[in-house]
Amino acid sequence: MAETLVDVQHLRKEFGGTVAVADVSFTAQRGEIVGVLGANGAGKTTTIQILLGLIKPTSGNVKIFGKDLEHHRIEILQRANFSSAYTGLPSNLKVWENMLIFSKIYGVKNHREKTNELLEMFEIAHLRNKITGHLSSGESTRVNLCKALLNDPELLMLDEPTASLDPDIADKVRKLLRRIQSEQQITMVYTSHNMRDVEEVCDRVLFMHKGRIIAEGTPQQVKDRFNQKSLEDVFISVARGGDVLAASEKEAT
Ligand SMILES: Nc1ncnc2c1ncn2[C@@H]1O[C@H](COP(=O)(O)OP(=O)(O)OP(=O)(O)O)[C@@H](O)[C@H]1O
Ligand SMILES: [Mg+2]
Repeated sequence: MAETLVDVQHLRKEFGGTVAVADVSFTAQRGEIVGVLGANGAGKTTTIQILLGLIKPTSGNVKIFGKDLEHHRIEILQRANFSSAYTGLPSNLKVWENMLIFSKIYGVKNHREKTNELLEMFEIAHLRNKITGHLSSGESTRVNLCKALLNDPELLMLDEPTASLDPDIADKVRKLLRRIQSEQQITMVYTSHNMRDVEEVCDRVLFMHKGRIIAEGTPQQVKDRFNQKSLEDVFISVARGGDVLAASEKEAT
């Protein structure tokens, strides 16, 4: 039976006069990869940061693992992790030192084996003695993903995880994430501007526009709803406003 791992209800976040998230509600079931799409400024990162307990919502509720995030933050975060193309690890440490420190923070028992296994999996074992700040962005993205898997998270939040990867590595990372998901039933909330990522990796997508979810479903359902051939076409139509969005809003009312 499906188990709701993430339950977000009427989330709203204002920063001064800016409404970053207007009214967002969604759920993610155990083992599901949920893609969050939308133009720059749509509210994706803000939503992820709220789910991580990094910022407090202005209003709304978040339940993860059936527990209220506000009151069970530490317990919840021990069973989750995140990776972002834009938040780096301490840059003056070597890769293995970063992995060791995060292993200690997470209390990973077999940390040497775990670190080796992850570095091998992401094809970066040869970088273990490099200073993290000297890595290319694609290399540090992969170190970040290794860090995010150290504690065997049940929930993984990924903010543009393939943003700086070359097409070959991005393809490998997509396949790896799918493999990890199917082997370990990890639930993922995944933002990306890469529609190929989304089509290939995500079971379900949430289309955000100006702080709201305007469409939700499998990639195919979203394409059908907007009467477009590809998610990229849906994206462009929504970003440029116009008839597609108007039609969708009409349908939603
Ligand atoms: N700390 C902040 N203070 C003020 N405004 C903020 C803050 N964080 C985000 N915003 C604003 O909230 C809105 C949503 O930002 P957010 O980073 O969530 O968008 P996004 O969907 O992740 O965009 P992108 O695709 O560019 O990463 C933007 O208008 C942004 O300027
Ligand atoms: Mg963002």
